[in-house]
Amino acid sequence: KVLILDFGSQYTQLIGRRVRELNIFSEIKPFNNPPEDLSEYKAVILSGSPFSVRADDAPHPDLSEIRGKKPLLGVCYGAQYLAHFNGGNVEKSNTREYGRANLSHVETDNPFLAKVNTGSQVWMSHADTIKQLPENTQLLASTHDVENAAFKFDGEETYGIQFHPEVYHSTDGKQLLENFLVNIAGIEQTWTPDAFVETTVAELKEKLGDDKVILGLSGGVDSSVAAVLLHKAIGPNLHCIFVNNGLLRKNEFSGVLKQYEGMGLNVKGVDASARFLDELAGESDPEKKRKIIGRVFVEVFDDESKLVDGATWLAQGTIYPDVIESVSATGGPSATIKSHHNVGGLPDYMKLKVVEPLKMLFKDEVRRVGASMGLDKELLGRHPFPGPGLAIRILGDITPEKVSILQEVDAIFIDGLKSNGLYDSVWQAGAMLLPVNSVGVMGDERTYEKCVALRAVESTDGMTADWVNLPYEFLQKTSNDIINKVPGVNRVVYDISSKPPATIEWE
Ligand code: XMP
Repeated sequence: KVLILDFGSQYTQLIGRRVRELNIFSEIKPFNNPPEDLSEYKAVILSGSPFSVRADDAPHPDLSEIRGKKPLLGVCYGAQYLAHFNGGNVEKSNTREYGRANLSHVETDNPFLAKVNTGSQVWMSHADTIKQLPENTQLLASTHDVENAAFKFDGEETYGIQFHPEVYHSTDGKQLLENFLVNIAGIEQTWTPDAFVETTVAELKEKLGDDKVILGLSGGVDSSVAAVLLHKAIGPNLHCIFVNNGLLRKNEFSGVLKQYEGMGLNVKGVDASARFLDELAGESDPEKKRKIIGRVFVEVFDDESKLVDGATWLAQGTIYPDVIESVSATGGPSATIKSHHNVGGLPDYMKLKVVEPLKMLFKDEVRRVGASMGLDKELLGRHPFPGPGLAIRILGDITPEKVSILQEVDAIFIDGLKSNGLYDSVWQAGAMLLPVNSVGVMGDERTYEKCVALRAVESTDGMTADWVNLPYEFLQKTSNDIINKVPGVNRVVYDISSKPPATIEWE
């Protein structure tokens, strides 16, 4: 496997994913907390960073256990770090070096750059530049503005590149990573979804034996794939609990429950709608609504878990981005924008051991693993849906009537996206019920009814997002359908805000 030492670049996770797309397993660790045992890592990559090597507080890890002992690749800051502390010279660049550039000179004879073409587009993102390389290095590639774009240290497999091979805009970036990892480091490309399923199921069998495991299903991709993996390993000893909090999409509870049963899972559906809606009555504060839902979920889940006699494990669908220790530029934790993201987090007294079979996978890998186990395409392609569900899409207080209005509106929107072939090109979509009545006219009658906002965004991870340019004809038809078919709604608007500065959900 490959070790990626993170210096805090926004692209570090992309390096991890790109390496895995080559069917090579990768792990990301913070530069200031590297693994003690390096023996299993066949190569090391140093990421970019928001820091400057010239700053006093710049990351300055000890690489003596790595340099010359394993193939090493420094990307951007990683390259500048290698240059700067080995006799080279890094300075602030005079020209803007962001965005696309083209390689004007490439040493294609060097295996590191095999099949990388002169003229190939590369992606730059740096404020510093390597003015002079250390003496014991060989220059491998340049662009028009950046002479020292790629270099190698003599007598060791240590390379530096100024551009970012991990972003898609670097057209030969993946080739370059393959050259480094496969041709130079000699790593085998055996890490495939099928191989992951096989080894994970074997490990789970070994770890869990005849123990009973409880898992909360949400209808989402992660918990579903985790359930199927565990089911393969321990069959009926996996007890799944699917809670209806009354804030799911229309027909979601019964539909998804049937689907789970059809997959052979040992699943119990618990309809706690009334309890959730009761506890939420009269509450309009978004954070308090989230807290109530989180608490009631734990209570319901706890009651149900107690009914599973002798259970000793709790399984969770945690994925890799949730567990990567992040290096933040400020050193401190980032501000809480919304108290997310996991409804859940079970109380300590449950004393269950935790098993997280997807803990090392990125989201797209979870989907591929799901597909390799034959999970339904529709289930794997589902949009993300927040744990507190429609509660954070009903602005203000929640009543059963508002929930059912929003369920109808949402269903018309989502079904429309599906029947028009738009669903898969949208990352997430949904409707918001606004605490606003406005005047309308239907027939000869004046109406004074609710307004809904439709939102559809494209994103890769929900951290940033942009609104989707849905066809006008589609919006027109959807708006008509909603106003004609859903009593109580007389106005539809479309949200055209990006994140940042807006967020995806309205609460
Ligand atoms: P925001 O609104 O923060 O949403 O831009 C980013 C992503 O997170 C989801 N989201 C939540 N998920 N519990 C969840 O499980 C929450 O409280 C929550 N709030 C937002 C949102 O749907 C989007 O995918």
